[in-house]
Amino acid sequence: MASIDDDKKAAAVAAVAEVRMGMLVGLGTGSTAAFAIRALGDRVAQGLAIRAVVTSDASDKLAREVGIEVLDFAAVARVDLTIDGADEIDSRCFAIKGAGGAMLREKIVAASSARMVVIADGSKQVERIGAAKLPVEVLPFAIAYVMRVLTDMDAAPTVRDNYLTDQGNLVIDCHFVSLEDPRATAATLSAIPGILGHGLFLDEVDGAYIATNGVVTRLERAGASA
Ligand code: A5P
Repeated sequence: MASIDDDKKAAAVAAVAEVRMGMLVGLGTGSTAAFAIRALGDRVAQGLAIRAVVTSDASDKLAREVGIEVLDFAAVARVDLTIDGADEIDSRCFAIKGAGGAMLREKIVAASSARMVVIADGSKQVERIGAAKLPVEVLPFAIAYVMRVLTDMDAAPTVRDNYLTDQGNLVIDCHFVSLEDPRATAATLSAIPGILGHGLFLDEVDGAYIATNGVVTRLERAGASA
């Protein structure tokens, strides 16, 4: 029986097979994305010429270690393919991301990408997203105000202990009793001053590779270009 790590790696390798010569690749963050970065490094070592942008300092370090050329995303307007993990993904290709705290950069890089695929072991696949904690990145200046607003929304907010994002901001983990209408929740969160980003990915994910017991299943958003 395949371990969770075997499944993460299998999903990662399947997604990395989408990378073609000359592409600019977005590299996600987290333990599953790390498998993809290593798999991509293997292909680069075999002669694949690509360049990458990264969504975190940790992924930057790993990508350089495995020989991937990393560009400064501030000078990049368009990415060909982004590969990233998720905390939950459902059949609508709605995802919750950000357990690793990188959701703000992850969403920006995903939005800039012609295609974005999630890689995950089977434990991340759910019927409807909503059970996972939903992280929001908050400007430290606004933390008390944002906590008050999220408490009023029954979001059960908790400030992540001893944690700052790569941008030096705080993370509040929310747990909504119900995420019946994720678009409404996303719009509400986006409209709160002081919230810089959140982990609801509703339009960014085009497809997913999900591995369970060594078997990789591919999911595609209706109308996505594979
Ligand atoms: C990073 O901020 C996250 O969005 C990760 O992509 C997500 O938490 C999945 O991480 P793992 O692959 O480590 O489970």
